[in-house]
Amino acid sequence: MTELTQKKILVIGAGIMGTGIAQVAAQSGHPVALYDAKEGANQKAIEGLKKSLETLVSKGKITSEAMNATLEKIMPIEHLEDAKDATLVIEAIVEKLEIKRALFQEVEKIVGPECILATNTSSISVTAIANGLQRPERLVGMHFFNPVPVMKLVEVVSGLQTDIEVAHAIFALAQTWSKVPVYTKSTPGFIVNRIARPFYAEALAILQEQVATPTEIDHCLKSVGFKMGPCELMDLIGHDTNFAVTSSVYEANFFDKRFTPSLIQKELVDGGLLGRKSGRGFYDYSAQAEKPTIIAQEPKPLPSKLKIVLHGDQPLITFFGEQLESLHLKFEIDDESDWSGIAYNQIEIRITDGLMATEMDHNAVLIDQSFAPFAGMHLAWTHSITATKELMKSVENFLITLGIQPIKVIDSPGLIVARTIAMLINEACDAVNQGVCTEDAVNQAMRLGVNYPQGPFEWLEQWSAADIAFLLDSMDDFYRGERYRVSPMLRRKSCEELLNE
Ligand code: NAI
Repeated sequence: MTELTQKKILVIGAGIMGTGIAQVAAQSGHPVALYDAKEGANQKAIEGLKKSLETLVSKGKITSEAMNATLEKIMPIEHLEDAKDATLVIEAIVEKLEIKRALFQEVEKIVGPECILATNTSSISVTAIANGLQRPERLVGMHFFNPVPVMKLVEVVSGLQTDIEVAHAIFALAQTWSKVPVYTKSTPGFIVNRIARPFYAEALAILQEQVATPTEIDHCLKSVGFKMGPCELMDLIGHDTNFAVTSSVYEANFFDKRFTPSLIQKELVDGGLLGRKSGRGFYDYSAQAEKPTIIAQEPKPLPSKLKIVLHGDQPLITFFGEQLESLHLKFEIDDESDWSGIAYNQIEIRITDGLMATEMDHNAVLIDQSFAPFAGMHLAWTHSITATKELMKSVENFLITLGIQPIKVIDSPGLIVARTIAMLINEACDAVNQGVCTEDAVNQAMRLGVNYPQGPFEWLEQWSAADIAFLLDSMDDFYRGERYRVSPMLRRKSCEELLNE
């Protein structure tokens, strides 16, 4: 295996990513040559880096000696030939296949035969970039996340011809840079950009059907530990960027309907409502604007005669049990029950299984799925359209008493959290099923690449493959599209569970 520790690195492209990569490499002791085709780009990058390092020095995060040592290690160069002795080349130029291919073909003529070539592409096939190289086996993806000095994850991407030893060398190098590398095959979106698609897509579908507002969706997902809800996150990423990634994954999958981009988001892009950077997206970021919030409700007294039964053992039911105990309210547990939720006098408050309340009964009540860590505890709920006003009031008050801030949404399958997490798990299963990566790699990638509170397979452990498959099948029946198609791996896990029951 090529030993890369402290060897000379050539970083091509002195933009946001290239500068970050140069910084991290220099901080780990590598001499770094920095090249950019645009005049003045190198100088701008080094000045920017100096400023950000000075900020770190002023905050006491690094010493001024460390700052100087880092800056001294980075050498701006004007010609690629000036770094012909590099052991590794990391490319972070414009995201265009033909330009990347041409660059690597030029680089191959300059560097030595053992030099490893790495691309930081986030969406182009590594296999395709390697096509045309004399030695395609030495090209590998080294996909960093922005900002590079902060984000721990590196996806090490193997194309069809990548030599496994080259991937191992990059994996080991990333570890010496205190990063957490994961192996992945070169497929559209690799791990993170593929598996994260439903986080946005489900929110956009919910909005399109007017089931809930952006504020309501964001509050519900933040209640299960996401640092940002999907709507505020899309506003932060920028709708143009987010739409472009979704469109590229959709196209790269031969227009598989599962990845269909959203009309709602296209309208925002077309209208220049790009999110924070343009001052408006789902939310208004102008100085005088107030961010919409959800007003907390106080509980009213419960009826004097109460019969409460907990059904099932999901995390939310455990939470209800703890709340009831702290309120000194008596309850029974039915762990043989064929449904999950809480029964309160005659009312069954069921955790959504993927059917609409109105499909179930006159007075059916559904609550959303939930997972620890329960933060804020905004929980979506709904009822059949024939439910009485008394029933709705009574359910709402009971949930508030249990420490929940209930958010009433339009009756629809899978509510908010259940459909989103089910789809994330389904996509994760599909990636593993196709040999893109391992289950552990998925969990690590989603925790570190997009700050998810848990990895998809960790959620799966707290839920049930059979229940998730049932939920997605119900949604598939309801919507009659391809989006909710169950992954063969999830189906296998579901059947295995049912056989073992
Ligand atoms: P950027 O636009 O900030 O920087 C690109 C730099 O490459 C520019 O300075 C440009 O002058 C230079 N360049 C363009 N063509 C060149 C060529 N033929 N030879 C030498 N230099 C050339 O772009 P950014 O955001 O740094 O992205 C770079 C790469 O990293 C892209 O492939 C992108 O998809 C990928 N990436 C970007 C992430 C992000 O959040 N910005 C995250 C992960 C990957």
